[in-house]
Amino acid sequence: MFSEGVFDYSGIEPSMTRAVQFDGRPIWAEVRLGALAHNLRAIRSHINASGSGKRKVLAVVKANAYGLGAVPVAKALAKAAADWFGVTCTTEGAELREAGIRQPILVLTGFWPGEEKRLIEYRLTPAITQCDQLRYLERAAARSARKQRRPAGFHLKIDTGMNRLGILPTDVDCFARQLSECPHLRLEGTFTHFASSEVFTAEQTERQEKLFCGALERLRALGLPPGIVHMANSAALTARPSTWGDMVRPGAVLYGYHQFYDPPERKAEMEAKVPLQPALSLRARLISLRNVPAGQGVGYNARFVARQASRIAVLAAGYADGLVRTLGNRGRVIIRGQFAPLVGTISMDLAMADVTRIEGVQVGDVATIYGSEGPAAQQVSEVAHSLGTVTSDLLCALGKRVPRFYLP
Ligand SMILES: Cc1ncc(COP(=O)(O)O)c(C=O)c1O
Repeated sequence: MFSEGVFDYSGIEPSMTRAVQFDGRPIWAEVRLGALAHNLRAIRSHINASGSGKRKVLAVVKANAYGLGAVPVAKALAKAAADWFGVTCTTEGAELREAGIRQPILVLTGFWPGEEKRLIEYRLTPAITQCDQLRYLERAAARSARKQRRPAGFHLKIDTGMNRLGILPTDVDCFARQLSECPHLRLEGTFTHFASSEVFTAEQTERQEKLFCGALERLRALGLPPGIVHMANSAALTARPSTWGDMVRPGAVLYGYHQFYDPPERKAEMEAKVPLQPALSLRARLISLRNVPAGQGVGYNARFVARQASRIAVLAAGYADGLVRTLGNRGRVIIRGQFAPLVGTISMDLAMADVTRIEGVQVGDVATIYGSEGPAAQQVSEVAHSLGTVTSDLLCALGKRVPRFYLP
């Protein structure tokens, strides 16, 4: 049906694709910094809509800003007036400080013994997640007291039901006693983390909120002001005003992706209340086209067998780039404004799409994995949902070797 083409690479027409131009293997991510600023503004106006003071926003930029690039993302958000940043460890915090980020940085998962010195050196605010960490932090803070001149601030994490990290509400008294023996430390904030704030068909979040409020009351009763109170991740800040406290901690929504709620109808309501712009597009070029006769297999283990003579495009994208393997024979990409199914097993560096039904496909054409092209769009959040995972999982899968381009 098709003749095997001999491709003249010099004839590839780049303008057809509005693609970012660079030398190298043709797969890339486009991160729209304007979308990040827009999303931050949308979040800020949502949580301050009632005019009841000014709640702060802690931008969660851990895990390399969910794969999009910690430094450029944090710089864009700092410019857009993010109040705080959240990272997971001292290495991530130090990277931001060395890049010139001056806003307070909360190390969300606490610290491992030995990291205390770096916390203080880089002016990072640790989360205390168990009482015995106070001792280590106090020792490091006392050692640097002459240089720092003021107590080292930390936030206290309360475990209200996630059963992961944080002190139990029943440990608040013990915490207060131990803190009274730490003159070089200061409690500057208290927080908890929700396990299922996108779920409205169960009451876990309400229970967590109640336990958290009880712990705050106990702190106050013991003469310890809790400092900045914060609870809300993306779904909570979007859909649960009672959790807003003094500060919210958006991750996924900051990057432009709403959660999938239970019940699902909630999503449309939230999209209308907090309009977001997806920040990421992931694109690759077609590096080969072949005619596969009916009955022949494609890719490892021939997991796709052509039912008819088929035109198969090979993309410069594999699971090492973030095109996850589970999308083989399940996902699709956009080529020339139309959807083309991903066929066969996705390999580390390559994937195949069936373009039999798309007119005029050529080597060099762009395949959009996430993002929009012409009338078609497919966001990373929808792909994640179709695979039964969360958006952050796919964002964090974006490979190190994929160049990120930061667009306005
Ligand atoms: C403590 C904490 N707060 C906030 C977030 C942001 O979560 P989301 O991406 O759902 O907004 C995370 C992410 O895992 C987290 O660990």
